[in-house]
Amino acid sequence: MKTLLEMITIEMKEAFKAAGYDEELARVTLSNRPDLCEYQCNGALAAAKQYHKAPIQIANAVLDALGENELFSSAEAVMPGFLNLKISEDYLASYLREMAQAPHYGAQDDPAACTIVLDYGGPNVAKPLHVGHLRSAIIGESLKRIYRFFGNHVIGDIHLGDWGLQMGLIMAQLQDEKPGLPYFNPDYTGEYPAEAPFTISELERIYPAASARSKEDEAFAARAHEETFRLQHGERGERALWQHILRVSVEDLKRNYDNLGVSFDVWLGESDAQKYIPQMLETVKSKGLCVESEGALVVPVQEEADAKEVPPCILVKSDGATLYATTDLATIVQREQDYHPQKYMYLTDKRQNLHFEQVFRVAKKAGLVGADTQLGHIGFGTMNGKDGKPFKTRDGGVLRLETLIADMTAFVRAKVVENRIVDASEVDDTTAKIALAALKYGDLSNQPTKDYNFDLERFAAFEGNTGPYILYTIVRIKSILSRYGAWESLPIQEPANDYAKDLMLSVTKLGPTLEQALKTSSPNLICAYIYELAGCVNKFYHETRILSEEDTRLQAGYIALIGLAKNILESCIDLLGFSAPEKM
Ligand code: ARG
Repeated sequence: MKTLLEMITIEMKEAFKAAGYDEELARVTLSNRPDLCEYQCNGALAAAKQYHKAPIQIANAVLDALGENELFSSAEAVMPGFLNLKISEDYLASYLREMAQAPHYGAQDDPAACTIVLDYGGPNVAKPLHVGHLRSAIIGESLKRIYRFFGNHVIGDIHLGDWGLQMGLIMAQLQDEKPGLPYFNPDYTGEYPAEAPFTISELERIYPAASARSKEDEAFAARAHEETFRLQHGERGERALWQHILRVSVEDLKRNYDNLGVSFDVWLGESDAQKYIPQMLETVKSKGLCVESEGALVVPVQEEADAKEVPPCILVKSDGATLYATTDLATIVQREQDYHPQKYMYLTDKRQNLHFEQVFRVAKKAGLVGADTQLGHIGFGTMNGKDGKPFKTRDGGVLRLETLIADMTAFVRAKVVENRIVDASEVDDTTAKIALAALKYGDLSNQPTKDYNFDLERFAAFEGNTGPYILYTIVRIKSILSRYGAWESLPIQEPANDYAKDLMLSVTKLGPTLEQALKTSSPNLICAYIYELAGCVNKFYHETRILSEEDTRLQAGYIALIGLAKNILESCIDLLGFSAPEKM
């Protein structure tokens, strides 16, 4: 469907043309005087310069040409030459009726819909999931839903960090703690045990301990490197142990992501890219892009237009080791082969901007992807504590994601219990939904690239610009609807009061909002929109007798309107990645 603004613009263009003026001047915007009108067109002011006439004269001529128009209840020319436009109530109602029936509420499908690989999550196996990974998961899940809503084919890949030094560290530590394990015995030729020699909590203790130890104990660090090397060169024992680490961690990760309402289509990792490295290096070398620098193999990627230095991309270090960029380039080879996407989107902390710039340049220069393939990196800002400083636990460690979620859940649960919101049997489910909304909305309502401060009390508040406030609005409408009875087929009617009209006008902004959110990969636009829409719903609710209205036709119109608003709010929170409880 065309947006309301587009429909109005078409009419105004016609009128400009009919009055003898360039139709391109007929730009229409939302009014900056909502007390006077809803839309305005300032084209007569621009035309005045071009046609050397008084703007008001032009505005009046355009009005004459516009005549009686079904879109407007009034159109006025005011000094010095503005055109103030009020939408007709009838037209507004018919527009909403069409929206309510149309797929996606009439939002246009993505004209550039294609296959997209979305790389989000990026947790590192055996290291606890920390808050840095929260943003990637939350923003990524929402973008995946937005892209899909508009008809894109999206492959969400978690891209596990499962191949680095952390593996060697864990293995070296395990060797000291459990020296009897067969994995380290070179003479062992039997089957390795099917059971992992550790639990997830042991694993989570071992990694930080080993990492700290390696900073003080050189011999230990060397052994960790040796173990990593052995793993990467396919030693049987290390491979078997690695499989255990992977399995135990992935199981735990799945549980964590499930709790967050985040899912992936594929669970590949850095390890899966390793076999593509030789082929990737071959291609890059054959294009003559590589140079040797102090024994390392690098690709210079500086371009003339660069304002800042972009250092060469290192593919192989002097000791033969490959790096993060090598793996990312090899992963591109795998993704080209398996999915042939037209677009890649990576979500990481913005501190990785340079890394992706280098990787993208090499990929393009070497033709690992086609010239038209889009390579995008969304570098998000840091989530800080309430004090604006990077998140730390009381003892100064990194805050674990699980702790953060547990804190939020405990806080919300106390409210749910205290306010006796639901029966005891539903406390868990209601709490989980509200806590998730608080967490996700708190994050997504910020522009992805900006840093933000995590504020548990503020995010979980039932009033203000928060997830729970949106849920509360939905639940309130649901309760009215259920008391009314069957409402789904009631038609939208012309607005019966100003609050209804404001609400209806807000509804019409859905399409353009979603389209813009898609175009700029900005879930925050959806948050801002539903906050406005929820505000209109609540104002309407406070100012209008709905259930006690005696005029049944009028009442049916109210119900149809809030029903549509509820459907829209629910669709929007689904795009953000959370859902509403039945009661709140
Ligand atoms: N594991 C990485 C980290 O924790 C993130 C991986 C992001 N994806 C990628 N293809 N580089 O920083």
